[in-house]
Amino acid sequence: MRIDIVSIFPDVFEPVLASSMLGIAQQKGAVEFRVHDLRQWTDDKHRTTDDYPFGGGHGMVMKPEPLFRAVRAVTEADPRVPFVVLTCPQGRRLDQRLVEELAAKERLLILCGRYEGVDERVREIVDLEVSIGDYVLTGGELPAMVIVDAVTRLQPGVLASPSSAEEESFSWGLLEYPQYTRPASFEGREVPAVLLSGDHKKIAQWRRLEAIRRTALRRPDLLESADLTEDERAFAARVIAERDSERKEPGSDG
Ligand SMILES: C[S@@+](CC[C@H](N)C(=O)[O-])C[C@H]1O[C@@H](n2cnc3c(N)ncnc32)[C@H](O)[C@@H]1O
Repeated sequence: MRIDIVSIFPDVFEPVLASSMLGIAQQKGAVEFRVHDLRQWTDDKHRTTDDYPFGGGHGMVMKPEPLFRAVRAVTEADPRVPFVVLTCPQGRRLDQRLVEELAAKERLLILCGRYEGVDERVREIVDLEVSIGDYVLTGGELPAMVIVDAVTRLQPGVLASPSSAEEESFSWGLLEYPQYTRPASFEGREVPAVLLSGDHKKIAQWRRLEAIRRTALRRPDLLESADLTEDERAFAARVIAERDSERKEPGSDG
């Protein structure tokens, strides 16, 4: 997969893209990153990428010409047609399902906004606007890094064990089960015995139920679309009912 990023702060990507898993993914050839300075597509001596909003108002707006030129030039740099993503707090909220959709593309081109965002006409050359959450950042660079990180780790050959992505939070439509490592006993806190049993079937069953328990307690909204058996749904309902009755107990008279 190839990922192009267009930003007025291209230098901020260097340490992130070169380190740890992203750097290794690049070395392995699983992904190729290209970061472009938007200012190369300006045509004035100050290399201006923003201007005042028509109609007045606070802040500046990113001009359309450099962004149109950037998308055209970057698209032409490779025969694969990129899926163009605009980072934007008004966009589709990023979740693991969207990460999987983006990871399946052969090429992404991510545009990083700044100031008050981009001229509305830029939306015509964008395939999808993506938000990383309901809050406003100063620019699209951090959202672009989030997208790149999440998408890269799903590329074949990047994770040491592909099943680690399959079992992770959100991949089953559930949060991940609790994890433990050595020592088995730490200051009187014991690792659940089943994990030490060597019985893989029982371990898998325990993990599945604990994933359901955790999801029921922390993110019950996820249960609706999770693929659960009737027994598992009943288990989730019991977990929630037990938690609610524990909460009621101290003040049960009122
Ligand atoms: C200050 S924000 C602009 C916000 C815009 N005025 C609005 O109200 O929607 C500047 C840029 O940061 C990026 N950005 C800020 N918050 C974001 C978020 N939650 N998700 C994705 N991108 C975001 C976008 O690229 C945006 O164009």
